[in-house]
Amino acid sequence: MAKAKYTTHLGMVDILPDESPKWRALEQIIHEEAARYNFEEIRTPIMEQTELIKRGIGQLTDIVTKEIFAFTKGDSNYVLRPELTAPVVRSYVQHHLAQRGGSQKLYYIGPMFRAERPQKGRQRQFHQFGVEVIGSGDPVADVECIAFMMSIYKRVGIKNFNLKLNSVGDPESREQYKNVLKDYLRPNLNQLSELSQKRFETNPMRILDSKEKEDQEFIKNAPVIGDHLNEDSAAHFKKVCDLLSSLEIGYTIDPLLVRGMDYYTRTAFELTSPDLGSQDALAGGGRYDLLVEEIGGQPTPAVGFAAGMERLFIACEELDISLAEPKTVDVFIATLGDTARDWAVKTLPVLRDRGVSATMDYLGRSLKAQMKDANRENARYALIVGDNELEAGKFTLRNMHESDEEQLDLEQIIQKVAHLSND
Ligand code: HAM
Repeated sequence: MAKAKYTTHLGMVDILPDESPKWRALEQIIHEEAARYNFEEIRTPIMEQTELIKRGIGQLTDIVTKEIFAFTKGDSNYVLRPELTAPVVRSYVQHHLAQRGGSQKLYYIGPMFRAERPQKGRQRQFHQFGVEVIGSGDPVADVECIAFMMSIYKRVGIKNFNLKLNSVGDPESREQYKNVLKDYLRPNLNQLSELSQKRFETNPMRILDSKEKEDQEFIKNAPVIGDHLNEDSAAHFKKVCDLLSSLEIGYTIDPLLVRGMDYYTRTAFELTSPDLGSQDALAGGGRYDLLVEEIGGQPTPAVGFAAGMERLFIACEELDISLAEPKTVDVFIATLGDTARDWAVKTLPVLRDRGVSATMDYLGRSLKAQMKDANRENARYALIVGDNELEAGKFTLRNMHESDEEQLDLEQIIQKVAHLSND
């Protein structure tokens, strides 16, 4: 086969016709589950102002310093959205969604863009579904987000995972903890990895997230934030833990869980799967009580999560879970001769209007080739039409799965096939 002249960009993937049914099946599950939880869908543009993303996610985060696709056109700076929390908050502030009353329970599905080094489970264009609950500081909101997240995996059939939970505290707790952590690390600073030495000044808590070998010994014995939460943050975290237990949602507290965006306050969580490779995070999220104000709104607490859809599919593959039924069409009209072809063109809409999916050959091929096509299309029935059938007003309806045939008029065919397709 000749090599294609043009291909997708590195880390950007076509979703081909054989793949799209499972995407639609997952999207359907998400929409249905969101309706049960009373979440409303929000769709925002693919591109945002670069400043929003920098401000929202944090100037010194890996996402902003290394991974955003950003460009300038005219007087505007554009960025392909690397995530949706900051854009959804932008939309909430821009459109005064607070005025709708109550907390806004929003969900989304869509593509995100990060210029990361591609590998299994890591793409440059990938898809997330997620929720943002804006306007509630109650631990119930944290737990509802987690419960929604779990309900999707449950419906898909993925049961083997690890919910890791931590509190990154409020700014007061974090300031105090950062000092304790820095005091602990300072005497050994020059033994830490280069990256961690940099982070010591910019964001010492991210050192806990380091995968560098030389850092591990120090990370293992580091003081944990759980011991340095102020009363409010500790009470919030305890309530989240208690509510999760009451819902029998299992979790482990991971004091090293810090997450990659600067906006998090208090609750942080990640769902990992042993069925994924090194990119084992299925989903992640947490509370971000200061972001709405940071982006220009009123002080408003909020919490949410996002889940990688490609990673969910990788887990499905490992577990042999198929989300979509094999493709099929109710009727394939196979024709012999021009008059039959004209009849088929007119009959297709009649069938479709009655709720029957139907197709025919577009290539003027032999009857034998058409029957092969009907098989390839996984047609339930082939409707075979030639001059004799047209004259008699009776057509051959072949059940492709059972290989038996009947002679029926069109109305009888519709009755038979429509009944089946509405089952
Ligand atoms: P995140 O942890 O950066 O969080 O991304 C959430 C999920 O998106 C990850 O757990 C992973 O499954 C998937 N993901 C991230 N990057 C890639 C990639 N390059 N390729 C494939 N999948 C990827 C957020 O995005 C936050 N906005 C979550 C949140 C919502 N926090 C509060 N509300």
